[in-house]
Amino acid sequence: MSLLLEASQITKRFPGTLALDRAHIELRAGEIHAVLGENGAGKSTLMKIISGVYTADEGQILLEGRPVAPANPHEALELGIAIVHQELSVVPALSVAENIFGGRLPTNALGMVRYNRLYENARSVLQDLQLDIDPRAPMETLSVANQQVVEIAKALSFQCKILILDEPTSALTAREADILFGLLRRLASEGTGIFYISHKLSEIFTLADRVTVLRDGRTIGTRAIAKTTPDEVIRMMVGRELGDFYPAKNPDQGAPLLEVRDLRLNGQTEANSFSLYDGEILGIAGLIGSGRSELARAIFGADRKASGEILIDGKRVEINSPADAIRHGLGYLPEDRKAAGLFLDMAVRRNIVAADLKEITRHGFISNSKERSIAEQFVSRLNINTPSIDQEVRRLSGGNQQKALVAKWLAIRPRILIVDEPTRGIDVGAKREIHFLLRELAANHVGIIMISSELPEILGLSDRILVMHEGMIVGEIDAADATEELIMTYASGQQGKVYASNNRS
Ligand SMILES: Nc1ncnc2c1ncn2[C@@H]1O[C@H](COP(=O)(O)OP(=O)(O)OP(=O)(O)O)[C@@H](O)[C@H]1O
Ligand SMILES: [Mg+2]
Repeated sequence: MSLLLEASQITKRFPGTLALDRAHIELRAGEIHAVLGENGAGKSTLMKIISGVYTADEGQILLEGRPVAPANPHEALELGIAIVHQELSVVPALSVAENIFGGRLPTNALGMVRYNRLYENARSVLQDLQLDIDPRAPMETLSVANQQVVEIAKALSFQCKILILDEPTSALTAREADILFGLLRRLASEGTGIFYISHKLSEIFTLADRVTVLRDGRTIGTRAIAKTTPDEVIRMMVGRELGDFYPAKNPDQGAPLLEVRDLRLNGQTEANSFSLYDGEILGIAGLIGSGRSELARAIFGADRKASGEILIDGKRVEINSPADAIRHGLGYLPEDRKAAGLFLDMAVRRNIVAADLKEITRHGFISNSKERSIAEQFVSRLNINTPSIDQEVRRLSGGNQQKALVAKWLAIRPRILIVDEPTRGIDVGAKREIHFLLRELAANHVGIIMISSELPEILGLSDRILVMHEGMIVGEIDAADATEELIMTYASGQQGKVYASNNRS
C-alpha cells in the first residue's frame, strides 16, 4: 500500500499546554488507521492540524510526498482531507440536505438554489450509507445518532482521499455503528485512507489495520493490529499495567433507599416500578431510545411525570424540579454534557461546584478558597488533565470535560446518584477510575443507578440489572445470572415482561 500522508515532528502549544510534542503519524492508501490515547493525549489536536483547523507550531506534513500546510479546513478539503469532529457541528434549523451540501448548494443561472437537485444529491449520498433519512427533514428533528451519521455523510460527499473520524460512534447504536463500519471498509477497499479515533478497543480491534498510540502529545508507537493485543496498546496508552478493570461487587445490600412506584411518563400508558437498595449499583440497560434517560429525567424532576410516586428511605417525597431532587439528595449526570451538564465558558472550578453553590456560599458570596479547595480535590482525584482549575471548560479535551461533569455531581455528595452514560468518551484508565469511584460511593451507602449502552460496563459494574424496551422495564437480572445475550434478548423485546414490581428474587 502506498503512503498517502506522513506527519512528522508535529509540535503544538496552547497557553499552558504542550498539546503535541514532536508527534509522528502516517497513513497508507486503503488503510483504516486507529489513533489511540488517553483523554488529552493530543489525538484531536493532531487530526485538527492535518485537516487545517489548527496550524502546527513546528513539523511537516507530506501528502503523497509533497509538503502541504492547509491553513484552514477549506484548503484541507481541496487537498482531499475531510474530518468529522468529536462534537457535533450541525445547523439544527436547516434541512439534512442543506447540512450535507452547505456552501456548495446547486444553483441555476440566476443563482437560485435548485432544491430538487439538492434533495436528489443528498438522497444519493444517504443511500450510499443505507440510511433511511429524509433529505428534507430539519436537522433538529433527527436523533443525535442520525445527526452524527449526517455529518459523516457530509464528509463523504467530498470524495476525499483521507477521511478523519473523531470518536464517530460515541452516540451510535450497535446497528448504526455496523453500517458505518461496513461503509468504512468499502471506502478503504477503494483506496481511501482513514484515521479513526476511538476509546472503544473492541471497535479498533475489529475495524483497524494499524494503530498509533499517543501519550502526553508524543507518539509512543505504531503497530499492526494483527501483531498487537488490547493489553499491549493499553500499556502503551497509560504507560503502566492497569490492574483489574472492575471493582469487586457488593453481595449484600441494605434497606430500600429509593422506591419508584407506578411512575408513568407523559404520553405513556404503562407504568414502571422498581427499587434501589442501599449500597447497590443498579444498572439500566436497553437500546438507545428505549426510555432509559426519560425515566431518569422524570425521577430527577427534569421532566413532568403523568403519575406515580417516589419514596426515599420509605418516605414519600415530592420531586417536581431538579432543585427538589437535589434537596432530597439526588444527583443526575445527564447523557449530553454540552446541552445539560456543563457551563462551557466558565472555569473548571466553577463547573465543579455549580450544583453545590449552597455549600460554598456564605452570606450570598461564593467562598473563593472553598471553591478552590473542592475543585482541586476533584481535579486530582479524577485526574482531570487541565493546566489549572481556572481553565475554561471548553478548552479541555472531550474526555476531560466528561470528568469535570462527573466531579460536579460528586461534589454535592448525593445519597442517590443517577449516571447516564457516565464513561462515554472517557479513556480506559479514567473509565476504571470512575468505576472504582462509583463502587466506593456505593460502599459508603450511596445508591447508584447507572444507565449505560456498553454491555461490558453494565455487566462489570452492576449488582442488579434492569432492562428497558419501549419505555417499559421488561427484565430484571441478578448480576450472577447476567450475560450479554440475556440482556439483548430483553432489550430487543423478544422476551415479555417477566418482572414483577419490587420483586427481588
Ligand atoms: N483550543 C484549546 N485551547 C487550549 N488547550 C487546548 C485546546 N485544545 C486542546 N487543548 C489541550 O491540548 C491537549 C490535547 O487535547 P486533545 O483535544 O487533542 O486531546 P484528545 O487526545 O483528543 O483527548 P480526548 O480523548 O479527551 O478527546 C489537552 O491538554 C487539551 O486540554
Ligand atoms: Mg479528542
